[in-house]
Order: sequence, then structure tokens, then C-alpha cells
Amino acid sequence: MNHKFEFVNNRINKLKKDNLYRELQHTIIKKQYIHTKNKKLLNLSSNDYLGLDIGNLNFKQFQSSSRSVTGNDRKFLELEKKLSKHKSQEKTLIYPTGYMANLGALTAIIERHDTVFSDELNHASIIEACKLSSAKIKIYKHNDMADLESKIKKTKGRKFIISEGIFSMDGDSAKIKEITEISSKFDIITILDDAHGDFVFGKDGKGTANHSGASKKIDLYISSLSKGLGSFGGYVSSKKSIIELCINRSKSFIYTSALPSPIIEFTLKRFNSNREPRRKKLWNNINLFHKGLKQIGYETRSSSQIVPIIIGDEKTTLEFGKYLVKNGIFAQPIRYPTVKKKSARIRFSVTAWHTTKQLNETLSVLEKCRYKFKID
Ligand SMILES: Cc1ncc(COP(=O)(O)O)c(C=O)c1O
Repeated sequence: MNHKFEFVNNRINKLKKDNLYRELQHTIIKKQYIHTKNKKLLNLSSNDYLGLDIGNLNFKQFQSSSRSVTGNDRKFLELEKKLSKHKSQEKTLIYPTGYMANLGALTAIIERHDTVFSDELNHASIIEACKLSSAKIKIYKHNDMADLESKIKKTKGRKFIISEGIFSMDGDSAKIKEITEISSKFDIITILDDAHGDFVFGKDGKGTANHSGASKKIDLYISSLSKGLGSFGGYVSSKKSIIELCINRSKSFIYTSALPSPIIEFTLKRFNSNREPRRKKLWNNINLFHKGLKQIGYETRSSSQIVPIIIGDEKTTLEFGKYLVKNGIFAQPIRYPTVKKKSARIRFSVTAWHTTKQLNETLSVLEKCRYKFKID
């Protein structure tokens, strides 16, 4: 018998035993619906928050090269200019994904002798990027400004603070104003990953820093084009010199192929479309869902379109998810390692696609769930 891969089977079996095993599902997404296992379900797990409906992609030609070789279609520059204006920054650089934007930008500017202060709930792409930079990493308690400041006071040398704008698994907002006050006081470089706040919060969807009145205090923005805008890709907006450094030092920019230009065209179309009515609709839906949940006795610290119901136990969370599917609703159960063990949750994302009737029906199902799964 070949024992070479026994350890792989053991690891898989352990995941199954701990209710942490993940299986890919076959899905087809159509507007606010998800088709899976021959069922049509209401999709409450989409990142296409604004649901901008501007037709389909027209794929004709690919650059098939890195942007630093022959892949720099002029459409990139057009979109980057618009994104710079959107963020009130000098320059922007588009990466193939938001994940790669974090890896690329952080490793380009942060070095071994630097210290990064990172919120304990920051996204995996930030955590990986910080590790890859080889800098010292100091994790501060979630949104705890006293902890952040006390850690800063004990640290010498060049410092960076990085936080998400809207925390991706909790849906709450970073204390951006307070963070920027601390960074001004100690002269620290401030980085905001606004993947979930961009295009949703602030004037014209400029993001959470704009919403907090602190946009001028952010030194570097990281964001995704795959969420509020419902397209694909990631970007970094900052000073001209920082973008120059990213172009020259980001491995996830240099040593990978450029996004196909039809995706950039598609993103431009979505960016240029009439986003404000969709954003208004999204906010009506967010407010309705938050208020409805409160009325039926659920507590959530969400201040955004991402609304988790924290259940704790992994097995119960999976059963909760299955019960939702039985009732025509898809919302993703989230477990370790995405969140801490025993803090499993169902994560809802409200979008502009949803109708009032659909959200009210979802709330009726959730009311039954509260008793069925004994959620306090
Ligand atoms: C905070 C945050 N940053 C970055 C990313 C990565 O973005 P992308 O999906 O474009 O790779 C995500 C994705 O969920 C995220 O939540």
C-alpha cells in the first residue's frame, strides 16, 4: 500500500470531523438568483452590491502578456485616471485582483525593518501581504484605538497602519477618523483596504474614508473592482511616487498577465453608468434588512450591506445554511479559518438587486430560524 499521501487523507478527514470541510458547488448566477443543484435560490451572498445592469462582456482580444511587457492596453490608463479622481489621489495602478493589489502594494513599500499595525480582523490578503513584506507585524484588537496607540508608543522606526474600511466578515466600519488622528499624531503611513466600502459609502460612492470625512488623511487606498462595481480586478490609489514604486517592485503586478482589456472596458462601462440610483436602492435595502433583523430579535454590529448572524457552533451554522436553502435562500455559512473557531456565522450580503418583498420573505424565514436554532 502506498502511504505517501496518507497525511493528505488524514487532514481531509480531520476537516470533515471538525465541520470545517469545504466543497465547491456548481452555480449559475442570474441577477439576484443563484441556480444550484437544480434549485433556484435568492442569492444573499453576492458581492455585486450595486447590481449595475449594463449588458454582457464582449470578448474579442486578449493582450496575453504582463502590463510591463505588451499588456498595457490604453483602456487601463483611462480607467486608472477615473479611479484616481474617484479617490482624489494622484495616480492609480490596476492589478489582476484585489488580493494581488494587497500583496503587490504592501511588499513594494513596506520593508523588513518597518512595523505594520494591523487590525485583528483584517482580510487574509492583508495578512499574507504583511507576512510577505517581512516587516514586524503588530496586531491590534479589533477597532481598539487605545490598544493601537499603546502598541505604537512602544515601537521605534517607520510605521504603517492598515485597516479594512468595512470588515468583510463582520460588516462593521473601521474607526477611520480616529485611526487617521493617531497616524497624524505619530506621523504614520495609513493604508485603507476599502474593498467593501468602495462604491457603496461616501459621496458618489467614494468610499468609507470619504464618508468619515478623513479621505485626505489616507496615504494609500487598496480596493477591489469585483465588489461594489461588480466587475473584476483590484487597484491601488496613492501619490505618484508610490505608484511608481509599485510598478517597479510589485511582483504580483510585474510577473503576471494583465487583465484582458474587455474586462477593463466592462469596468469602465460600469464605472460610467448611472450608479447613484442603484446606490440609493442598495441603502434602502440595507436599512430595511437591518431594521427587520432588529425587529425579530437578532443583534448585529453591521453598519453596511454585509450582515452576519453569528451562531458560534460550526455544525449548527451548516444546518442553518441548509435550512435557508430549503426555504429558497442562499447565504454563505462562514467558518474557521475565515473567522475564529466557534464564531461561525451566516453572512448575508444585501444588494440593490433584491426587492423589498424578497427581503421581507427572507426576514420571515429568519424569524423561524431564531426559534428553530435557539439564537439569542
Ligand atoms: C477586504 C478585502 N480586501 C481584498 C479582497 C480581495 O479582493 P478580490 O476579490 O478582488 O481579490 C477582499 C475579498 O473579499 C476583501 O474582502
